Amino acid sequence: MTTSHSAADASGEKAPPEVVREAEELRLELNRHGRLYYVEARPEITDLEYDELFRRLVDLELRFPDLASLDSPTQRVGAEPQDKFETVPHVAPMLSLDSTQELDVVHRFHDRVSKALGAGNEPSYLLEPKLDGASIELVYEDGLFTRAVTRGNGQEGERVTENIRTISSVPLRLRTDVRPAPRMLAIRGEVIMSISNFQDLNAGLIEKGAEPYASPRNSAAGAIRQLDPSVAASRKLDVFVYDVLALEGHSVITDSAGVDALRDWGLKVPERVEFARSVQDIASYHQHFVTARDRMDYEIDGVVIKLDDLAARAAMGSTSHHPRWALAFKFPPRQEITRIDKIDIQVGRTGVLTPVAFLRPVVVGGVRVARASLHNRDELKRKDLREGDNVLIQRAGDVIPQVVKVLERVEGRSPAFSMPAECPVCGTSVYEEGPRTICPNRFGCRAQLKGRITHFAARAALDIEGLGEETAHVLVETGLVSGLAQLFDITAEQLVQLDGFAEKSATGLVSAIQAKKTPELRRFLVALGIPEVGVNVARQLAAHFGDFSLIRSARREDLEAIPGVGPLMSKAITNFFDEDRNTVTLDALLERGVKARVTDPADTALADLGAVVFTGTIPVPRVVAESAWRNIGGSVTGSVSKKTTFVVAGENAGSKLGKAEKLGVQVLNFEEFVERLRGLGGDIKV
Ligand code: IVH
Repeated sequence: MTTSHSAADASGEKAPPEVVREAEELRLELNRHGRLYYVEARPEITDLEYDELFRRLVDLELRFPDLASLDSPTQRVGAEPQDKFETVPHVAPMLSLDSTQELDVVHRFHDRVSKALGAGNEPSYLLEPKLDGASIELVYEDGLFTRAVTRGNGQEGERVTENIRTISSVPLRLRTDVRPAPRMLAIRGEVIMSISNFQDLNAGLIEKGAEPYASPRNSAAGAIRQLDPSVAASRKLDVFVYDVLALEGHSVITDSAGVDALRDWGLKVPERVEFARSVQDIASYHQHFVTARDRMDYEIDGVVIKLDDLAARAAMGSTSHHPRWALAFKFPPRQEITRIDKIDIQVGRTGVLTPVAFLRPVVVGGVRVARASLHNRDELKRKDLREGDNVLIQRAGDVIPQVVKVLERVEGRSPAFSMPAECPVCGTSVYEEGPRTICPNRFGCRAQLKGRITHFAARAALDIEGLGEETAHVLVETGLVSGLAQLFDITAEQLVQLDGFAEKSATGLVSAIQAKKTPELRRFLVALGIPEVGVNVARQLAAHFGDFSLIRSARREDLEAIPGVGPLMSKAITNFFDEDRNTVTLDALLERGVKARVTDPADTALADLGAVVFTGTIPVPRVVAESAWRNIGGSVTGSVSKKTTFVVAGENAGSKLGKAEKLGVQVLNFEEFVERLRGLGGDIKV
């Protein structure tokens, strides 16, 4: 970060009053915009404007160290890694919840509560989604966030304050413009990781050969127990709060009033908190979320039913384990039982051998599942999965199905599956790197070449129509193509000789390939499949250098001058260009007249695509559409405002559609959205 401070200023000069005032105003402003963005999902300024204010504050705080304060948004990350966490008692015990999946049990619960309240007192319940994350206690003293403790054994837990400070939806100071801050507030909430962040995290872990997390909950729980707060910060967590554990200097008599207070203090409360007076109300709320959960970007595993009246709660009391006034009404799990018909190995573009389970097809949560990646050798061994096994599969927080476990290890199972010693495609001896098994024959293995070709032609890369997995397979197996450059030599006459090509499809493919001889630089960079270089880095490289030859000859320090490009990436990039075989490929491409278009940096700067809102039912899980939009630099929010770029309306769109129309915000249907996305270099599988 660049600052303009001089040595004299940093030596401890006291900030003059007007600077103190300015810093205070900046903190308030930044905290407000942080809340609008992270808690209320209705930002009023752009990220760039926010960054500008933020930098101004950092600048002042660096110049005048006496300005530093705990509630400054600049203080979220920065604490040193710890050796271990301290175990501390909770302000009030954190109990569990009694739970059921049966409506009958809900009836009985309602009967018990009604009886406890006595004749003439109909219970009033508060209903909330049950968030599937890691439980946490947060403490605010005189409005200042002072402590966060994991659930632990319910009586005491680990103090993870510095990790929780990094979470943007946790206010460092309670908002007081609606109601004054209490002397002390202890609340319970749930730390969650969104499904899209979870998927990104896992994709990165798998790419690195590390073990992926099993669910967003595991990764959230893992993140808050990281000793280094910067790791927690990188996981992009979120916190919803739903229960007041202790309150001093303020009073509420119902849970709903408590939720209102929490909201007023700037905390993030669960969406769609509702009242219910009957089991029927509860059943329909539950039913709503049974379907809505598929469109949400975070995991919920049921709904929570809580008696609203706090005095009545106290009268009913708790068992040692759970309160008698609450019940979790859980969803049926999105798990199914099926059989592994076969385990096979797939070899990817980078030579990694991945075991894949081919399953007897089964529908899980509305999606047909016929195969599941088993990731790597260690995972396969840990789960001891074999052909013929009956297994439990799930789609937990993940559109990607996973095999949870073998149901029963029956006598006479197939022998344990072991990774082959040789690449099943090219026969080269494989090597192991951590849990991964890799075929080293990078330039001779047909599987890797097929992978490189499909990657080259993919939508985010050169976007060559008609050149998918199947075609790549045919081109490689027939020997027509032995490297990327040969794609440009193919003629229609050659293609019609092959199975599956008619005159029209042959000429179509040839012209589709020839049409991409002058690709945009950023697409060309993606197409080459340089390790570590995805869509975003490619865009940055293109914007920074503007010309392919400059990137090809860039030194590591030139690359590292780009924000976000670290040593790992610069090394991967220079290694790629130093590799003789890549030089041959690049020269061969140049020889055939393939030349990336020189780009005006302004064209490639990460455009501010703005925020979009989804409403109604769309043909793909909503998380998939959302992450596709985020992948190209857009953002997604939950509510429509004048600043919304556009609204994507699916079937049965609700009030958000009405609001968009009222505000004159553009409305796209799903097909139009996909078109827009693709036009901007993104992609989505439909
Ligand atoms: S109320 C004493 N409300 O579910 C009960 N809990 O399986 C106070 N949870 O450990 C909890 N969402 O961490 C409540 N809206 C919600 C919740 C919720 C998730 C968690 C909580 C509890 C677990 C029980």
